[in-house]
Amino acid sequence: MTAPTLAAPKEPLLNPTSLTRFVDRLPIPPTAHAAGKRAHPAYPDRMLPYYRMEMRAFKARLHRDLPATPLWGYSGLSPGPTIDTMRGEPLLIDWVNALPTQHFLPIDHNLHGAERSQPEVRVVTHVHGARVPAASDGYPEDGYAPGHSALYHYPSAQDAATLWYHDHAMGITRLNIYAGLFGTFIVRDAEEQALGLPSGDFDLPLILCDRLIAKDGQLYYPVSDDPSAPWVTECHGNAVLCNGKLYPYLDVEPRRYRLRLINVANTSFFDLSLSHEVPFKQIGSDQGLLPVPLTRSRIELYPAERADVVVDFSDMAGQSVQLHHRSEAIMEFRVHDHERRDTSALPATLRSIKRIDPASAVRDRVLTLGELDDANGNAMAMLLGGKRWSDPVTEDPRQNSIETWSFVNLTGDAHPIHLHLVRFQVIDRRPFDLFAWNADRTLKFTGPAQLPPPHEAGWKDTVRADPGMVTRIAMHFEGEPGRYVWHCHFLEHEDNDMMRPYQLLPEQTG
Ligand code: C2O
Ligand code: CU
Repeated sequence: MTAPTLAAPKEPLLNPTSLTRFVDRLPIPPTAHAAGKRAHPAYPDRMLPYYRMEMRAFKARLHRDLPATPLWGYSGLSPGPTIDTMRGEPLLIDWVNALPTQHFLPIDHNLHGAERSQPEVRVVTHVHGARVPAASDGYPEDGYAPGHSALYHYPSAQDAATLWYHDHAMGITRLNIYAGLFGTFIVRDAEEQALGLPSGDFDLPLILCDRLIAKDGQLYYPVSDDPSAPWVTECHGNAVLCNGKLYPYLDVEPRRYRLRLINVANTSFFDLSLSHEVPFKQIGSDQGLLPVPLTRSRIELYPAERADVVVDFSDMAGQSVQLHHRSEAIMEFRVHDHERRDTSALPATLRSIKRIDPASAVRDRVLTLGELDDANGNAMAMLLGGKRWSDPVTEDPRQNSIETWSFVNLTGDAHPIHLHLVRFQVIDRRPFDLFAWNADRTLKFTGPAQLPPPHEAGWKDTVRADPGMVTRIAMHFEGEPGRYVWHCHFLEHEDNDMMRPYQLLPEQTG
């Protein structure tokens, strides 16, 4: 796929090295509070906490020395308030669209935008990684205009995990998330709490994204200048925001902290490390705890992936520790020297994870990522299984069955592939012969299968499908029948047909 030439931004872009680093405190998103209790027909014998999350336009300073930036956010914040719940405690959220009718970002420069005669703002919220009935999942075509709202219910019937909520409206997800529509959704459970991991003030979400920021503080979203390549295939920023700030700092105590790292970027991945050779102890991935903590000097996160880490600052009193993305310091932890007793624990084992046996799968679906588009001079079309969004459903697993899906990546890039509703396990990645595939679509492996590294061996909901590889995952389709989606979590790809519906069919009985 050829990258289009981009139109020049109206305002010159900011040179982030001109900013003074570590002058703004890291914002910690407030915890959302229920506005009351309500009944819901899906839960006849209990009252549910009811939350109201209003999407609004607002302005915020990304840095002390920048003018305020227009943004969109839940409850007028970006990241939005953190939803915090326990397994087995369902809740209701009223997602209210109180946004302006006009987008402040260029709305119609993509496949689905061009189809709209009246490009208008629509939103629909999806909780990434949540097991929810289809009607509350945030189906892209369920987007609604300003002045409307959607009442969704979340069963919270799943293991403790760091989930996140974000917009999912058809064709403009990349713009709505870029504008600021995302936040953290934490599910806790008694098993995890019994481990005594750092909690309360010492358990913090750290939400990372990059943005193109102009000198006047405005967000710039790239627009193609090239009529033959109308949509922009990726968006990489000139600066990284941590919980919505540029180069923030956080005062910490000399003790253990739990940081829930979430990559909410459109297309960029983060390559994270700490200065002074302070290691991360990775305790969790997308869908909760790993079997054992892993000592890692670097953590790579693709869009939508999460890593739960414990960082121990107890030997660093009086010093500063920087968080790096590649070689750039993006935030600073200032370790104070006052001692308060750290009663948290980091147990040697966290939980046991039973591996899904791929042989128990009723079906293996072979699905291509990217397809050679002969109509377009052999350019690569970013499709899934060679199909567009509007093509009839082809993935139709049965409720409670086990399937494996094999992603055959025909493109030159890794893509983060996400399925709604289910958690999965990565079985392996295996190199294959692209020429043999292109000649007659036979899958000829050219090397042995590679097992996932330990940090990818827990429960996942987003997997990096590497170029030249077949990436195989296994899942048990628990959940309610209905229409869900799977897609690439590069938001530019997702908005331009690298997303497909899937239908969970009712369990076969008798
Ligand atoms: Cu993070 Cu379909 O979404
Ligand atoms: Cu992609």
